[in-house]
Amino acid sequence: MDTGKLLKVALPKGRLGEKVYEIFAAAGYPCDDVLDPNTRKLIFVNEQAGVCYFWVKPSDVSIYVERGAADIGVAGKDIILEYSPDVFELRDLHLGICRMCVAGKTDFKDNPANTLRVATKFPNIALSYYRRLGRDIDIINLHGSIELAPVLGLSDVIVDIVESGKTLKENGLVPLETIVPISARLIANRSAYQFKSEEINALSSELSKLI
Ligand code: PRP
Repeated sequence: MDTGKLLKVALPKGRLGEKVYEIFAAAGYPCDDVLDPNTRKLIFVNEQAGVCYFWVKPSDVSIYVERGAADIGVAGKDIILEYSPDVFELRDLHLGICRMCVAGKTDFKDNPANTLRVATKFPNIALSYYRRLGRDIDIINLHGSIELAPVLGLSDVIVDIVESGKTLKENGLVPLETIVPISARLIANRSAYQFKSEEINALSSELSKLI
């Protein structure tokens, strides 16, 4: 398949990606079967609309875009802050709105005499946050179910995404500090943004009418 002329779009798999695709489709870039629950295909092409979509693990979107396997993509600000990919951030899509927080048990009291044990999937965000505060920390790098860590005594606090707050609440945790608000961003590969600027700007401007 020659996808060279098409706009290659990396979509984050999951609920956010489905919402993102719906907006892209409404903006004039639909493609058959992208939301078909019965398909396991990962690549979808609509030559007429000039677009090719890939379903990508959300944390991998910026890798595909940075390396040019995708021209554009949609990544959470959390991923952009964590991995600092060398890409253009074109637009806030105002979707997937949540915040990056420090959370802990309801009775948590920080003792500055001790190194703070922080469990997280976002070590760079946590390190830079606590470096700014001048607080000594020990990062415990986990890959999911972060809320377990303080409950089981593995860490003192967590640095994680809070959306509804339900996961924290149901595990006896509370948000302690907000580090940064998060939402989905349209990102572009640097050279694709030069060579396909017309197509990318046309899409971005259609999206702006819908968000
Ligand atoms: C994220 C995050 C929290 C949860 C927050 O996890 O890490 O666990 O969502 O959402 P809430 O505030 O609405 O409860 P995700 O669903 O990505 O799963 P993971 O822990 O396996 O990464």
